[in-house]
Amino acid sequence: EFHKAPKHVAFASDGPFGKYDRQQLQRGFQVYKEVCAACHGLEFVAFRNLEDIGYSEAEVKAIANQWQIEVPDVNPKTGEASTRRALPADNFPNPYANEVAARAANNNAMPPDLSLMTKARHHGPAYVYSLLTGYQDPDPKLPKENQPGPGLYYNPYFANLNIAMPPPITADGQVTYADGTNPTVDQMAKDVAAFLTWTAEPKLENRHRTGLAVVIFLLIATWLAYLSYQNIWSSKK
Ligand code: HEM
Repeated sequence: EFHKAPKHVAFASDGPFGKYDRQQLQRGFQVYKEVCAACHGLEFVAFRNLEDIGYSEAEVKAIANQWQIEVPDVNPKTGEASTRRALPADNFPNPYANEVAARAANNNAMPPDLSLMTKARHHGPAYVYSLLTGYQDPDPKLPKENQPGPGLYYNPYFANLNIAMPPPITADGQVTYADGTNPTVDQMAKDVAAFLTWTAEPKLENRHRTGLAVVIFLLIATWLAYLSYQNIWSSKK
């Protein structure tokens, strides 16, 4: 039994001329913040990187202020780790203190860091979108060993078919978008997939621009080479 290939879904960043849709990235960030961040970190993204998707310095400060960062010293009175509020230069912390705590909270499964998820899986953005919108009742014809056990959810886009992540996006209107976009389940899944495409490749637009410049340069160089070829052989007709 094999899992399904991701659904077809289009993003503004697709193709050699693709650019991110900043409004969509902000909506996707909102979904990450309000839904996914309860279980998943973004260890390779700093709060100040959010300026790239259109937040001001002041907004970034206010966003960072909503997260807690663990500091190395232990509170001498309680023996507990101390925390401070995050600053723009901090990276998004993992929501759990360590792997044991993460597994204890998730039926022994570990929510992976999402920074590079769209690069780690084939057709990453489409995969994330498909996974989020792909939860189903298990096909009763599935062999017994492929039926979801306790604490698992059937999702044919997941390689194991049964995933320990409870469906995170379940109802239209689960978030309220600042830009007035209708927050359907489909829209929220697409937006967070777009956001995670950006976290994994914040320089995608530079890469596309450079590629275009290289192609134009090579076309001109080819044309010049052709002209000099004609010039060199012009007396030998
Ligand atoms: C795994 C995305 C919310 C718990 C994953 C994976 C992705 C993902 C892409 C990896 C699947 C793979 O390995 O191929 C998201 C997104 C979320 C979200 C985009 C928000 C919209 C949550 C929440 C929880 C959670 C709220 C906890 C209640 C987990 C767990 C796994 C996982 C436990 C590991 C599953 C396994 O290995 O069976 N998530 N997640 N996720 N997520 Fe989430």
